[in-house]
Order: sequence, then structure tokens, then C-alpha cells
Amino acid sequence: VKRPIVLGIETSCDDTAIAIVSADKKVLNSKVFVNRIDQQRIGGISPALSAMQHRMFIDNLIEDCLDEISCRLADLDAIAVTSCPGLVICLKVGLERAISLSRISKVPLIQVHHMRAHALSSRLIDDSVEYPFLSLLISGGHCLLVLVKNPSEFDIIGIDSTTSPGECLDKVAREIGLKSKDRHLGAEVERLARLSDDDGCLRFSIKPPSTSGADFHFASIKNSFLNLIQQGKLDKLSQKDTVDLCASLQFQVTSHLCRKLHLAFEYLQSKDILQSQSKTLVLSGGVAANKFIFKAIEKLTNFYNYKLIVPPGRLCTDNAEMIAWTGIEMMEENPNVAIPWTSLPSSIY
Ligand code: KG4
Ligand code: ZN
Repeated sequence: VKRPIVLGIETSCDDTAIAIVSADKKVLNSKVFVNRIDQQRIGGISPALSAMQHRMFIDNLIEDCLDEISCRLADLDAIAVTSCPGLVICLKVGLERAISLSRISKVPLIQVHHMRAHALSSRLIDDSVEYPFLSLLISGGHCLLVLVKNPSEFDIIGIDSTTSPGECLDKVAREIGLKSKDRHLGAEVERLARLSDDDGCLRFSIKPPSTSGADFHFASIKNSFLNLIQQGKLDKLSQKDTVDLCASLQFQVTSHLCRKLHLAFEYLQSKDILQSQSKTLVLSGGVAANKFIFKAIEKLTNFYNYKLIVPPGRLCTDNAEMIAWTGIEMMEENPNVAIPWTSLPSSIY
């Protein structure tokens, strides 16, 4: 394996994730712990519960991740850890652990921006993704369209600073009483929407969000549907109502994403950005698993001559591989990003 070899730690939300990755794009080992059952029971992610989970499992996950491939801490070239953005008390667990490991083993530490890592994860699995490229991240926590220029330079083209498409799907799904033991509610919306007639997606129409520019506004779609349901217009949902509502919701989310993407493509074209080289859009995040959304975006990328890349599921959602990989890319671009253990504080509290 090629050096640098980096241990990645990700604890920004509810997944406790550890991975060891090398510069030749080999994932040497990875471990992850999540508990979706409790989240569904309490109706969302609890920062305190997630932080407790991280504290309970992180040490064993790191130890197993290293031991299983007979890797010692001293064999590592760096420890990369998510430092922002995320739930602060969750981030702290990973950061504390990374700092103490770095001090014990005298291995330098790299602070990684979670959103940038999402965008760069595509380069770990696909050699054809070259800078600059576009990245659309759609998940339960994020909605972000960025132009990625290099490992440390990102231009935000469009963002949703209040809600995300995943939250919009999940909240409405919960309101109409959808439940699922083993899948995300967004996936349940997709499954039910497929049962709707062709024009089911037009049965419940809402006013599309009125935003200018390429920024997204999923709160408006979420609230329009919640109002529709709560105003008693949909008191008792029949099976047909439920599947048509899911189809309408999925359709509105898709159409909003496509409208903004369309605008961004036109803008980039008008500015001659991304025109000279092969154009790539990387689509990631949990919502990217939705086939209806994928197909709609694929039509748009085909039209504008963009290559569309969707990393495999495990790399699309939160993971530590992307943190380790981003650490490697940052280090290769500028070795000074790695903070020597001697410069680290003894605690972040
Ligand atoms: O990336 P992710 O696993 O977690 C974070 O948000 O960090 O994304 C989870 C989100 C949830 O909102 C979930 O409902 C949504 O992705 N999701 C889907 C599908 N699978 C997961 N949304 C629509 N269709 C799907 N098939
Ligand atoms: Zn994320």
C-alpha cells in the first residue's frame, strides 16, 4: 500500500465511523455503528443520545479497526477527524479521541470539514473525477451544490440553510404515519410513490417555493404538505391518498432540485465555467438513493452533457472513509495541514 496511510474518525451526527485508508485508494478497514431504531422511536436524532453512543463505542471501534489488519497507531501517517460542521457535542467526542490518540502515538492530526469530505468521497472510488467538478449533496442533514476546485477550495453555488430534502421527506412521512423498521422514511416514500398512478404525483399540488438564485428552500415544500395534512383536508387518508401524497411529495422535491440544478447549469455555462474540460456532477447523500430523483437528475445531466457519478451507498451517507481520504488529499496538497502532536492542546474542553 502507498503512503500516507490515514485513520479517519467521523462522529458529527449519529454514525460512529472509523476507517483506515491509503493513498492508493485502498480502504484497509472500516467500522461503523449506528442505531436507527431508537431514532425512529423518538422521532429524530437526539444529540445527547448520539454523543453517548459515540463515547460508548468509539474506543472499541478504533481498536478493532487497527487490530484486524495488524496496524499499530505508529504505522499511521496521520489521524483525520471531522471538526465541523455537525452536532457540537458529537464532534467533541471524535475530536477529543483524535487528539489523545495523536498525543499518545505522536502521529499528526488533520481537521476535516465534513461537507468537503462528502464531495471528495467520489474521488476515492472513481479515478475519472477530476478537479474542478460539481457536487450536489442531498441528505437528511444537508442540501448543498458546490463547485469543487481542489481539496481546499470550494465555491458554494446553492445551499438550503434551513431544511434538507431528507428532512422534508421524513417529516411529512412521519406526519402521515409512515413507519419502517429497517429503512429510512424517505425510502418508504419512494416505495409507496411507486404504487401511485401516473398522474398521482399531480393530485396534491402545492405552491412551489419562491426563491431566487440557486439556493434551495425545502422548508416551504415541507410546510405546504404539513399544512395540507393538518388543515383537515386529509383527515383520514385512504391507501390511495397515501400513495398519491407520497408521489406528490417526491415529485415536488425532485422538481425543486431539478429547477435549481437547471439554473446552476445555465449559470455555469453562461460564465464559461466547467466548459473546457469534461463536466462532472457528483450526486451523494442518503436522498441520492432515490431512483425517481436520480432519473430526473440524470435527464438533466445528459442534456447539459455532464457525466453523473453517484458513489455507492456506504460512501454516499456519513462515513469515515471520506474523512480519511480527504485527510490524504489535503496532506498531499499541503503537508502543513497536518498538526504535529506537540502543537495539540491536551483537551478541547
Ligand atoms: O446521508 P444520510 O444517510 O444521513 C444524513 O442525513 O446524514 O441521509 C438520510 C436521509 C434521510 O432523510 C432519509 O429519509 C433519506 O436520506 N433517504 C431517502 C432514501 N433513502 C434514504 N430519501 C428518498 N428516497 C430514498 N430511497
Ligand atoms: Zn453528512
